[in-house]
Amino acid sequence: MTERRLTNSSDAESLVLRVTGETFVRTVEVHEELASTNDRGLALAQCSRTELPCLIVAHRQTAGRGRGGNRWWSSAGAITFSLLLKPDLDRLPVARWPELSLTVGASVCQALRPLVGTADLRLKWPNDVYVAGRKICGVLIEVAPSPTGMIVVGVGVNINNSVKTAPPELQARAVSLCDAVGAPCSQQDVLIGVLRSFEHHLELLCDKPDEMRQLWREYDLLIGRSVMVGDEHGTVSGTCEGIDDDGALLLRTEAGTKRVYGGVVQSFED
Ligand code: BTN
Repeated sequence: MTERRLTNSSDAESLVLRVTGETFVRTVEVHEELASTNDRGLALAQCSRTELPCLIVAHRQTAGRGRGGNRWWSSAGAITFSLLLKPDLDRLPVARWPELSLTVGASVCQALRPLVGTADLRLKWPNDVYVAGRKICGVLIEVAPSPTGMIVVGVGVNINNSVKTAPPELQARAVSLCDAVGAPCSQQDVLIGVLRSFEHHLELLCDKPDEMRQLWREYDLLIGRSVMVGDEHGTVSGTCEGIDDDGALLLRTEAGTKRVYGGVVQSFED
């Protein structure tokens, strides 16, 4: 176990002990402030001595990144972290890595399930998590330059940062766990829960992929909705027919069913 505590708080000390004692993570870095935990993960991927999986936590990000080149807003009370890991290629070949996105999103859903009670909890392809129609968690997975074979799984969850403090344009679209349950929640418990859930579901993805696929379909937010997905090449619109076994979003368009593997969902409606 390796510890790099870059902040002095006793909270950081207990976090390191809990993460290494209760989860599959072998190295932990806790930072008071970073530009982006994903950037730190990508930098660490170049240093072959890091024991994996490696968790990087930051109390503040000054340049948190989202999917599609967006910024990620967070404030005190949120958790922002990245997990640097090296998937076992015999069990999860690169061709199956698109399934990782959905697996991370579904893992977060499973970790939040007992906390949000009866609230509607959904996974928006490929990996956003929504509670009662608002986004509570975003995930940014990046592949480290070859030949490392490593990936960085970046996760931001709104926990005790009430969205009342968010920029006005986010307030209608985002939610925090404390807003959803009406009380503050332990950030450490949520982080540990998400890590344990991901460890479990990564095994499921390798060994019993059909069970994993069933889970992401149970949480699917977009099925039956009109959806527009865009990337740097353009947009595609259609009615969502679900998510295929390989992680593709299936959109029924006038030209037939299209399989979408990447991009950002720009809009969705009933
Ligand atoms: C999205 O919804 O667009 C993805 C947001 C991902 C945000 C997390 S916060 C921790 C990690 N570090 C980053 O810079 N981004 C991810």
